[in-house]
This record gives sequence, structure tokens and C-alpha cells, in this order.
Amino acid sequence: MFNEIDFSKIDTAGAPPTDDAGRQYYYMAKLATMVTLKEQELGRPITYCLQTFGCQMNEKQSEVVAGIMDEIGFKRQDTENADVVIYNTCTVRENANLKVYGRLGKLHSLKKSNPDMKIALFGCMMQEKQVVDKIQKDYPFVNLVFGTHNIFKFAELFYEMENRDSQLIDIWEGTDKIVEELPTERNYSFKSGVNIMFGCNNFCSYCIVPYVRGRERSREPEAIVKEIEALVADGVTEVMLLGQNVNSYGKTLKNPVTFAQLLEKVEAIEGLKRIRFMTSHPKDLSDELIEYMGKSKKVCHHLHLPMQSGSSRILKVMNRHYDKEKYLGLVEKIRKAVPDISLTTDIIVGFPGETEEDFQETLDVVEKSCFDTAFTFIYSKRSGTPAAKMEDQVPEDVVKDRFDRLLKLVQEKGREASSRFEGEVQEVLVETESKEKGIFTGRTQYNLLVHFPGTPDLLGKYINVRLDTCKGFYYMGTQV
Ligand code: SAH
Ligand code: SF4
Ligand code: F3S
Repeated sequence: MFNEIDFSKIDTAGAPPTDDAGRQYYYMAKLATMVTLKEQELGRPITYCLQTFGCQMNEKQSEVVAGIMDEIGFKRQDTENADVVIYNTCTVRENANLKVYGRLGKLHSLKKSNPDMKIALFGCMMQEKQVVDKIQKDYPFVNLVFGTHNIFKFAELFYEMENRDSQLIDIWEGTDKIVEELPTERNYSFKSGVNIMFGCNNFCSYCIVPYVRGRERSREPEAIVKEIEALVADGVTEVMLLGQNVNSYGKTLKNPVTFAQLLEKVEAIEGLKRIRFMTSHPKDLSDELIEYMGKSKKVCHHLHLPMQSGSSRILKVMNRHYDKEKYLGLVEKIRKAVPDISLTTDIIVGFPGETEEDFQETLDVVEKSCFDTAFTFIYSKRSGTPAAKMEDQVPEDVVKDRFDRLLKLVQEKGREASSRFEGEVQEVLVETESKEKGIFTGRTQYNLLVHFPGTPDLLGKYINVRLDTCKGFYYMGTQV
């Protein structure tokens, strides 16, 4: 547990404190007493199941909710037949959205057999008005709904939910609050995501994120460094700096700091071995950052640089602020500065008005850029975004055909790019044991996974592995 709290120091008889973190500790202490009493009454542990949909930002915020639940005394389990079920939702594409409704249907039957079960939903999807209306109307058995801006208030909301019968909904339109130092239950002991900024100001015309995550806000560099120092003291050696557009980090701070300057401060932290970051918007990728990546000893040689489309015409309508030439120019520049860089990207197929010629431009960029991996998405109409109102949405069969052709090329090129390391010995951080006992998975600085025979004592360690056979997006290897 990170930022553990000593409840014996908290006076729960008095009024709740007014500072943000102190107030939450107060509610955690009250809930802890409640859980202990309930455990005694039932003669068994009180359980919760927390599932996360969406990106690493959501993963990171779920770690805070898990930290609070653990601190209160709930026992976590993977299956949904628990006393409390919590979903951290995503709405970037319709699929993500539909998944949650599907799960809610199943939860309803579970709740019929356990009427005391509590269901809480939070995250991006809950920031959409029509979603909350639907939950109020069609899913009255959901107990608590909150959003992306008030996650820090989880303990207080949970307490309030426990003390009422009706559905509790608390959605904030936006916030400039960043509450530090809440308890966190990390998914891995040796690596961690670290938010460096929240929200997004870019309003790409297809994307719902700016509407559900609010305006861009950067954390103070001192707070970021302090968090990472504490993480390192707690055993972390690899951090992933998270933001929707890390390249615009720090621009709105009282004392502006560039992303490269932040990296330099993070690099100075003793004991930290690897630094990753996500995501870089091509429009803001600076020469300063490229140069820093070339000389840094800790920043991994991996850059995720979402292209979205290869067509300059479509990129303009997407509101991406770069064109095909600029993108290809960036790829060239970064390869020159960091010759062994591993490049990955995101691509959307079937954006409104996309013609076969536009699509050919996308294939052309994939052909020329040698991505190690490309995440390909079928355009999904998100209500409230400008693209949702655009005419000439591309017919489903045309999109599907383009998607299949793109995927084939992406896989072919990915295999080609990833196989460049075959036979080399590289340092990996050993992350997990696979389902097959005795086989472990490590990650190279290039973000490539390698599976190899090993022993559990290797978990969390850096070891050298020979990359024997490339299997497309991963390797089979041997420890040397
Ligand atoms: N901030 C990041 C992206 C975050 S969302 C960036 O700009 O690079 C992750 C990916 O989801 C995007 O890169 C995009 O490829 C995809 N995506 C976002 N909205 C989408 C939509 N409406 N339909 C399909 N894919 C979408
Ligand atoms: Fe969405 Fe664009 Fe912001 Fe990325 S930069 S989150 S794609 S609006
Ligand atoms: Fe999804 Fe929200 Fe992330 S919409 S992709 S979880 S920022």
C-alpha cells in the first residue's frame, strides 16, 4: 500500500475536516469501523470487485479506488459475486460503452440473489449526460455514480451511499483540483503509471475525451518528482508518465516547464531505471524532446506517436494540426536522433468522408514508417463531437474492408520491424509469470515482450535475455 493511513490518529466523533485529503481520511476511518462491524456480524470478509475499462489513466485512477477500498478493509476479488462491484468506465468508442451495459445486465441478476450488494460506476462514460439519464431510468439498482473529476472524493461518496437507500449521483462538469496523497494499491510493485497532467484541450473532431476529462491541467513538477521518489523508495524502478498530450505538459503552470525539462528532473531521481511516457501528439513533439530522448540514459527508446490518418485532408478535418508530410518528417527526425527507436501508433479507419484515396495515404504512411505496432480502430461515432454530425459517414462494409487491409499491412510491417532484434541479447524487466508455469514475461526498453523459461525470484528484476525467435509482436527467448 502506497500512502497508507494511520486511522488511530483520526477523530471520527468530531466534524469532518475541511482540507480535501484530511476529509477523505476521516470518511475512510468511519467506513473502516463499519466494515469491521459488518465482518463480525457476518463472520466473513467483506469483498469487492473492481474492473477497469479503457486506458492507463483509468488504470491509474482505479489504483486509488482500490487503495481506498483496501484501506477501509474490503478484500478484493476478481469475480463479480462480491459485496461491492465497481466499474471504472470508458467511452472512447461505442464498444467500450456497450460492454458496461452488458455487464450491468448480468449484475442485476447477481444482485437479485444478494440484495445487499452495492454497485458503483465511475469514470469517463459517467460524464455523459445521456448515460446518467439512462442509468437513472433503466438501471435503478446501481447505487453510486460519479465521474472523472471527483474520484478523490470516493470515500465520502461511498459513506453517503451506505447511509441512504436511493441512487447517489455526483457528477462534476469540470475541476481544477488535483488532490495528492490518497492511498493507492498498485497493480505492480516495480512499475507504476504517474499522472503528469489531466484532461485534454485538443478537441480532435472524432474524440470524446476532452468532453469527459475536462480541460488540460498539469501537475506541478515538484509534486510529480515527490511522488516518483516515494514510489522508488517503495520498490518502483520504471515509471510511465501519463497524459493525453504529454508534449504540451507544463505550458499552463504558473512557472511554465517543458516536458523535456520535466524528464530531466525525473531522470535525476536516484534508483529509477526506466522512464516511459504516453501519449505524444505529433503537433507538439518538440526538437527539445527528440534531442533529450537521444541523450537520456533512462528514457526508453519507444515513442507512441498516434498518426490517426495518413491523409492530409482527413487530418485537417480531424483537427489534428499536422499533415502527412509533417508526420513523416517527424518520423525521419526521431529516427535520425534515436536510430534504434521503436515507434508505435494509433490509426482510425472510416472517419466521415474518408475515400479510398485517403485510405491509400494511410497505407502509404504505414508502409514508410516501419511501426513496431499500430493500434487500429474503426471510427466510432461519439455523440456531442463535431464528427458525429458530419455527413458522408462511410458505409460499414467499406470500413470493414479497409480495416482488414490495414490490419494485414500493419501486422506484416510490425513483424518486419520487431524482428530486427532477433538473436540480440537485451535487458528486460521481468513483469509476470504466464499461465504456462515456469514461463516468464519481460519487457525490453523498446516495449517488446519476450517470454522465456525462468523462476519467480526474477519478477521485478532486470535481466539479460537473448531474443531467439520473433513471433510477430513478441519474442521467445532465453535468459543468459
Ligand atoms: N490522446 C491520445 C489518444 C487517446 S484515445 C492522442 O491524441 O494520441 C486513444 C486512441 O483512440 C486515439 O489515438 C484514437 O486512435 C482512438 N480513438 C479516439 N476516438 C475515437 C473514435 N471516436 N473512434 C475510433 N477511435 C477513436
Ligand atoms: Fe482525443 Fe485528440 Fe485529446 Fe487525444 S489529443 S485525447 S485524440 S482530443
Ligand atoms: Fe477511455 Fe476515458 Fe481513457 S474515454 S480511453 S478511459 S480517457
